[in-house]
Amino acid sequence: MSRAKYIAGNWKMHLTKRRASTLARDMVAAAENSNPAVKVAVFPTYVHLDHVRRNIRNSNIILGAQNCYGKKEGAFTGEISPYMLRDMGVKVVMIGHSERRHIFGETDAMIFEKVKIALRAKLDVMLCVGETIDERKAGETFKVLARQLKVLKVVKPAQTSRITVAYEPVWAIGTGETATPQIAQEAHAECRRFVGEILGDEAAQQMQILYGGSMKGSNADELLSQPDVDGGLVGGASLSKDDFSPIINAASALS
Ligand code: 13P
Repeated sequence: MSRAKYIAGNWKMHLTKRRASTLARDMVAAAENSNPAVKVAVFPTYVHLDHVRRNIRNSNIILGAQNCYGKKEGAFTGEISPYMLRDMGVKVVMIGHSERRHIFGETDAMIFEKVKIALRAKLDVMLCVGETIDERKAGETFKVLARQLKVLKVVKPAQTSRITVAYEPVWAIGTGETATPQIAQEAHAECRRFVGEILGDEAAQQMQILYGGSMKGSNADELLSQPDVDGGLVGGASLSKDDFSPIINAASALS
């Protein structure tokens, strides 16, 4: 089964309004010069979403948000509903990033609610999963991935094409230490197997599973060449055109 490559930039809590807008325009230029078969998405912080939306308006770049709350509306000061994101022009929302899980204490139960309401709001979902270094050392990687992927039980058959999984080993995020292509492939294959158990084989074969954790131009090709690695969720290297374009180019060459 051949799946389109998907390269996404998670801008995290970086950039000013002006720099986010410039980077968005740079991404439009980079995407125009790449293979149209490659999906490209950017995930700016909430307050830059509208500026970025305007700058990518006439392109194929997908607008994503980094998080949402697990309710439609109500007295939840400081939170953002997926319906508000949808209303802003956002197409996909990232849920369960390890920084949300580990810094902000998000549990699988909270992530379940977020996935449910985001799908109901007609957003696509990028569900992030991944083990910590202690969990890997204890041989618990697959157990952790299986537990985190269980939230997909909330996905209805007609919604499966709206889910992307991002495997992001916590020990590789922002550390410069990348999973070897073998480690990434092994984890991705296992994620696909778990997805198959929950949503069926056809959904599992169609699902794009991205790798995240210190992906850069110099390692993108070997990671993206793995049969179950369908793209990258890129943090640090998505913050400049010079770093992000080579990753899009690597995906283009493989598409
Ligand atoms: P880095 O690419 O900076 O390691 O971040 C990965 C990540 O967390 C993307 O969501």
